Amino acid sequence: MPNRTTRALCRTGPRNDSMKVISTEKSQVLATRLARALKTTIVDVNYSRFPDGEHYLRAGALDEETIIVGSVVDNDALVQLLLLIDACENSKNRLVLPYMAYARQDKRFHPGEPISSRAVAQVFSRGISDITTVNIHDKDVLRFFSVPTKNISVAREIGSYIKTLDLDNPLILSPDDGALAFAEQVGSVGRWDVDHLEKTRLSGVEVRMAPKQLCAKGRSVIIVDDIISTGGTIATAAGMLYTQGADNVYAACVHGVLTGGAYARLMASGIRDVICSDTVERACSKLSAADRIAHALNNP
Ligand code: R5P
Repeated sequence: MPNRTTRALCRTGPRNDSMKVISTEKSQVLATRLARALKTTIVDVNYSRFPDGEHYLRAGALDEETIIVGSVVDNDALVQLLLLIDACENSKNRLVLPYMAYARQDKRFHPGEPISSRAVAQVFSRGISDITTVNIHDKDVLRFFSVPTKNISVAREIGSYIKTLDLDNPLILSPDDGALAFAEQVGSVGRWDVDHLEKTRLSGVEVRMAPKQLCAKGRSVIIVDDIISTGGTIATAAGMLYTQGADNVYAACVHGVLTGGAYARLMASGIRDVICSDTVERACSKLSAADRIAHALNNP
């Protein structure tokens, strides 16, 4: 028998007949908010492990339709999500994959490498009628799923949170030109200035990062990105922006993966605050993707 049990249970709002939400352990908070937004309930699940570390779970009573919520934040979450989908085999299942690890590995650079995002996408297409992702790193990855997909963005929610900081004339920066479109969506909320950082190699060892067109001097700067993983990109940029005279530098992202001491690294670099959504549940998850996901599910 499994030797360790945790529980996720929440019942809120008037019941939506025939649909329920269920989630992996690491997406309980977002799933609960989503259930509330969909005016339905969340299924009680017992999660545990066998003595050898294998995952076990047992889901409570399901309905005709199940919204399965699980961010693949690590390999354990990946396995738990696979088991959860299998446990729900007797209902119509719609998958919400708020964060998908392995999405950045979408090409084979060397012979013998897997296309990891394809491998993950293929396993999650089984037993599922459609998939909703949130700011997936590269929308091209969606082609690897064999069921209909919808990718939503929480750029506006990030922008709305930034508004609450009441900063005077902030500058929104993306770390590179690839993330500029996302930064522009965030910036449009407050009609703020938007630019991207540009790297200039000064010597074999020295690299300078500065806004391509605008000046950071005397301004509050918010660096926005889809993912903060090690925090290395933003920590380096923050140091340079302070050298260039920025007053305050903040970091905002959708997916706060924050691996290997990233939060501490960011704070040590002078970042005033780290802002992320609840696609990865962290203490610094200051905004929720739930309402936006509920809207997408209600409008397929
Ligand atoms: C990369 O393409 C992503 O958009 C992020 O910029 C990257 O994952 C950030 O990584 P890190 O926090 O490790 O610098």
